[in-house]
Amino acid sequence: MTTFMPRMFEGRTALITGGGSGIGQRIAERLAQQGASVALVGRSQSRLDSAAQGIIAAGGKAAGFAADVRDYDALARATGAAHEMFGALGIVLCGAAGNFPALASSMSANAFKSVIDIDLLGTFNTCRAAFEHLERPGASIVTISAPQAVQAMVMQSHVCAAKAGVDMITRTLALEWGPLGVRVNGVLPGAVADTEGMDRLAPPGPVREALAKQLPLRRIATKDDIADTVIFLCSDAAKYITGAIIPCDGGMTTAGMAIQTPSKSARPVQGTPVN
Ligand code: HXC
Repeated sequence: MTTFMPRMFEGRTALITGGGSGIGQRIAERLAQQGASVALVGRSQSRLDSAAQGIIAAGGKAAGFAADVRDYDALARATGAAHEMFGALGIVLCGAAGNFPALASSMSANAFKSVIDIDLLGTFNTCRAAFEHLERPGASIVTISAPQAVQAMVMQSHVCAAKAGVDMITRTLALEWGPLGVRVNGVLPGAVADTEGMDRLAPPGPVREALAKQLPLRRIATKDDIADTVIFLCSDAAKYITGAIIPCDGGMTTAGMAIQTPSKSARPVQGTPVN
């Protein structure tokens, strides 16, 4: 007998910021495989178009809507256009993020602000702009956290501050929007292979290998590990879960581990260390 396996997100619309590359792109592909129409948001239209073409070539539905998450008005236009093309948003993934290793003593105020604006303000802007277009009840919002939200890391003051704030946006919106039937959760990826963020912090080589050996699960994550967690949170299996930040980090945060960014990748220290 043929087994009929319905696709989980058939007829739903998913909007993904940072959907043109990295983890966001993989999440978009996986949501599309499950039947969702995916609206990809990011800064580069050509990168979004290429990611959308890949999904369409594999039989999915996708389109790119260029907007910088730091620009609320642009994001409002993108979410409106996505709603018009595909229907009300059932899934929203706040994936756009920025990172570079820099000691606080070497970082300009503008450098700090850039990451706060992309990660923290960008997450708020995405949720706020999407709110006008959500399936209510029924929508699921997923934010992307990081080990830096709970673990202080050298050269990451900007990211630690931003991602801790992202987690609190997640939990607060879960309170405010739960009564409307909108769930808001976060995924906390650890070290993920083949991503720009990991390549900046710990490029492939001895530092990364040492990290993998120390992780409780003894390996770096794949992008699919993260996508699996997002799919779970957006599925009916998670229908009673809101306000949760789920680590998908191989045990990194449970072990209290920090990524030791090689010092040669940072700009020079200002001032004289005391020891
Ligand atoms: C110190 C730096 C710097 C560095 C940039 N700046 N790189 N300062 N060290 N390595 C400073 C610049 O001099 C400038 O300050 C300010 O930051 C803004 O830089 P711009 O290049 O003008 O900004 P912009 O083009 O908007 O780029 C934003 C960015 C960039 C964050 C700086 O890296 C970016 O776009 N990244 C997106 C891609 C990315 O990083 N994805 C990975 C995310 S991974 P001044 O004062 O000169 O004006 C992630 C989690 C990883 O978030 C977790 C792993 C465990």
